[in-house]
Amino acid sequence: MDFGFIMHPRSLSELRIMLPPYGIPFLPLGTSDILKELCLKKGLVKDLFDLKNVVSENGTRCAGKVLCVYLAPEQFLENQGAALELLKVASDRLKDWGAGVIGLGGLTGVVGSRGKELNEQISIPVTSGNCFTVHSTIKVFERIVNETGFDFSDLKVTIVGFPGSISLAVSQILAKKGVNLVLVSKRETSFLKQFVSLIKDTTDVDVEFTNSLSDGLKMSKIIFTATSTGSIIDPDLLDKGTVVIDIAQPRDVIEKKKKREDVLIVDGGIVTLPSNGRKKYKMFDWNGNDIPGCLGETILLALEDRSEPFSIGRKLPIEKIEEIGVLGKKHGIVADNLISFKKPISNESFQKFVEIFKSN
Ligand SMILES: NC(=O)c1ccc[n+]([C@@H]2O[C@H](COP(=O)([O-])OP(=O)(O)OC[C@H]3O[C@@H](n4cnc5c(N)ncnc54)[C@H](OP(=O)(O)O)[C@@H]3O)[C@@H](O)[C@H]2O)c1
Repeated sequence: MDFGFIMHPRSLSELRIMLPPYGIPFLPLGTSDILKELCLKKGLVKDLFDLKNVVSENGTRCAGKVLCVYLAPEQFLENQGAALELLKVASDRLKDWGAGVIGLGGLTGVVGSRGKELNEQISIPVTSGNCFTVHSTIKVFERIVNETGFDFSDLKVTIVGFPGSISLAVSQILAKKGVNLVLVSKRETSFLKQFVSLIKDTTDVDVEFTNSLSDGLKMSKIIFTATSTGSIIDPDLLDKGTVVIDIAQPRDVIEKKKKREDVLIVDGGIVTLPSNGRKKYKMFDWNGNDIPGCLGETILLALEDRSEPFSIGRKLPIEKIEEIGVLGKKHGIVADNLISFKKPISNESFQKFVEIFKSN
C-alpha cells in the first residue's frame, strides 16, 4: 500500500523563503501579519517530495507522496477551521494519487481534536504518528539512561507540554518504569489532578506539578518537551549537566549559533530508515535517512497494508505504542541515532557530556 504525508513550514522564516515560487513575494521581517493573511487567502497546498521506493529491512516496499500546506506553524492553532479545510484539500489529492493512509506531520496532527475531525470527514484514514514518536523518544531516553549507568527509580524527569498527546503517553510510560515526574502544564486542570491521583494510587512514583516553565527546568536533570508553541526554552538558561529531549516541531529549544557542551539537546521522536545498501533517500532538507517518527509510523502502516487511523486523539493506548515499536523493529525503522539539531552527536561529545551529567 502507498501512503501520503502532510507537512507545514517549521517557522515563519522558512515559510517566507518557500513562498516566492507560488506568487507570494519575499516579504521583509515585520510583515508577519500580512504574510499570514496572504497565506490564508491563497490556501496553498503543494507537492514537497515523493518517496518512490521505500524498502524495508525485510524487502517489503511502498511509495509515498509528501504535500506541504503553506501556513505558518501558529496558524494551525490560531486558524483551525481554515487549516482543517486545507488538510481536506491535501487529503483528497493524496487519495486521488493512490494513498491508502495519510500521516499528519507536526501541527497538522494537532488540528481538529488531534486528527479525529479530519479522519471523520475524509474517506481514507489518517494518523498523527504519535505512537511511534513516543516509542522512539522512549528508546532514546533508555539509551541515555543506560549509558549514564543510572537506575530508573533514582531519576526525576520534567515533562513540558502536559497533557498533550505525546507528553501524556511519555508520562504514563515513565511512571510505569518507576521514574519520578515533574509535569509542566499551562494550568492545573481537573484532568491533571485526576492523572496525578491515578499515578500516585497505582505506582510508587512522586508526581509534582508546576505551571512555571523556568521552575520545571530546574527541578530535574532530564527534560522531555513536546509543546505546540515552539521556541520556549533558551538553552543558555539551562543548568550544567541537563539533558533535553525535544520532540516538538517546531522545536521547543531555541537554536543558538554557539552550542553549549555542558548540556545535551537531543532531537526526540526521530527514526532512521534502513538504507539496504542503497543511496540515501532524498527528502527535503532532512539529514540522511533520519525522519520524524510521525512519517516513520505512516511508512510502517503502508508497509503492513494497514489502512487505519492508528494514532488519533489525545489518549494513545500504551499497547499501540508497543505494537508500532515491534513493527519498527520488523522493518528496520528504529531510533538508532543520537541527533542534535539534525546533526549526529559524536560518541566523543556524548561521553564528555556523560561525565558532566554524572558529576552534577
Ligand atoms: N518529532 C516528531 O516526529 C513529532 C511527531 C508528532 C508531533 N510532533 C510535535 O510534538 C509536539 C506536540 O504534539 P502533540 O500531538 O502532543 O500536541 P498536543 O496534544 O497539542 O500537545 C501540546 C501540549 O503543549 C501544551 N503547551 C503549549 N504551550 C505550552 C507552554 N508554553 N508550556 C507548557 N505547555 C504548553 C498544550 O497546552 P494547551 O492545550 O493548553 O495549549 C498542549 O497540552 C508538536 O510540536 C508536534 O508538532 C513531533
